Amino acid sequence: MPQPPNLCEGHHVIVPPKGVPVWDVDPYAPEILVNPAPYYTALRGQGAFAYIPACSILTCGGFAVTQEVFSDHSRFVSARGVGLQDFNLGTTWRPPSIILEADPPDHTKTRRVMMRAMSPRAVADLRSGFQDAADGLIDRLLAQGQFDAVSDLAEPFATDVFPRAVGMQHNDPRRLVDYGAMVFNALGPDNAQRRAALAKGPDIVPFITDSCARARLSDGGFGASIYSAADAGDISQAEAGMLVRSLLSAGVDTTVTALGNALWCLARNPAQFDLLRADPTLAKAAFDEVLRFTSPVHSFCRTAAITTQVAGVEIVEGTKILCSLGAANLDPERWHNADQFDITRRPVGHLAFGAGIHVCVGQNVARAELEAVLTALAQQVARIELLNAPVWRPNNAIHALDLMMIRLHRA
Ligand code: HEM
Repeated sequence: MPQPPNLCEGHHVIVPPKGVPVWDVDPYAPEILVNPAPYYTALRGQGAFAYIPACSILTCGGFAVTQEVFSDHSRFVSARGVGLQDFNLGTTWRPPSIILEADPPDHTKTRRVMMRAMSPRAVADLRSGFQDAADGLIDRLLAQGQFDAVSDLAEPFATDVFPRAVGMQHNDPRRLVDYGAMVFNALGPDNAQRRAALAKGPDIVPFITDSCARARLSDGGFGASIYSAADAGDISQAEAGMLVRSLLSAGVDTTVTALGNALWCLARNPAQFDLLRADPTLAKAAFDEVLRFTSPVHSFCRTAAITTQVAGVEIVEGTKILCSLGAANLDPERWHNADQFDITRRPVGHLAFGAGIHVCVGQNVARAELEAVLTALAQQVARIELLNAPVWRPNNAIHALDLMMIRLHRA
């Protein structure tokens, strides 16, 4: 492993707890981000926690410990940031999210508004439109011959149906995708990925801020629904704008990534794709297995609000803990044949959408999008042919493809 750079900026420096191994690794090194499986195995092999001196953080990747830290919001808070930086120390690149980077009681209020906006009922109304869009796109790509699964399928689909569901009147797919990448890269250290992403800020942030304004959102979308909560006095107008920003931060790059990862799994496992073709109702189970197997959000942090113990390890107040959702989702102690992609597994309890009070509030929307595309593939496609070695794109919090050339063969 290369010697890690000094990543420690904007958070507490802690002494490694007794019994916890010191691990000289840079979890944000590009070679780890593009091929994380060996790192995940090494991480779990460290024990419950490892101390990473370059970042002065603890990290965990075993399922039980990761789930405990990630879901116990009273001991491990989000308001101090879910990235490396401790928001109690220094300024942030943008005003913190009022849902993701908030704790109760503030979180309870904003979460309620988002749950209502993206209720199962609201999402059910969108399903047939999503299916029509997916059916049409797969039909066109079948006719096209070879194409890139990321820029020709995942991005065009997600940046079409999602902004319409939000009610955005001025769509800009490139800026939406780049904004997501920026928000997620910002969670890491001051490395090349983060600097390159934040350099696009002056071009992207004004567009995003403008898109969150009430006047820019049409009636009937998630955005208008959030603003109606402000009319009812549940939140302020400014908070409504911040919650629309959360949709644009968290709702595009994640689903683009999940779509690409789904294609990657199915292209490399033709027998699993055959199972899906034989029974397209497996789309939901297949998506959950894609999530478990690839963890589109590979890690998020928590900060210890008190001095406490987990798995017999004393964790002092202020400690940042990098929770590797990707490692937990591949833990052989939790999953039988963990390193095999199996769409019949039904991996209940995977951590790809998180756990506890912050569990992904947009998961109904993500599920509706992915199920539409997986159903269209199952119904129209006989075979997904992989044409080259897929290229992954390093990101400090997202495990996403950069390029994957494929050809679809009509059923
Ligand atoms: C496959 C796609 C997606 C994945 C893998 C994903 C993953 C996650 C994860 C792991 C969390 C928990 C964060 C934490 O506990 O710190 C989360 C929260 C969140 N997600 Fe998603 N997400 C996806 C799609 C979406 C979509 C489509 C939206 C919007 C429509 C969305 C909006 C949010 C928001 C606002 C939160 C914060 C919730 C809270 O703090 O209470 N996500 N997501």
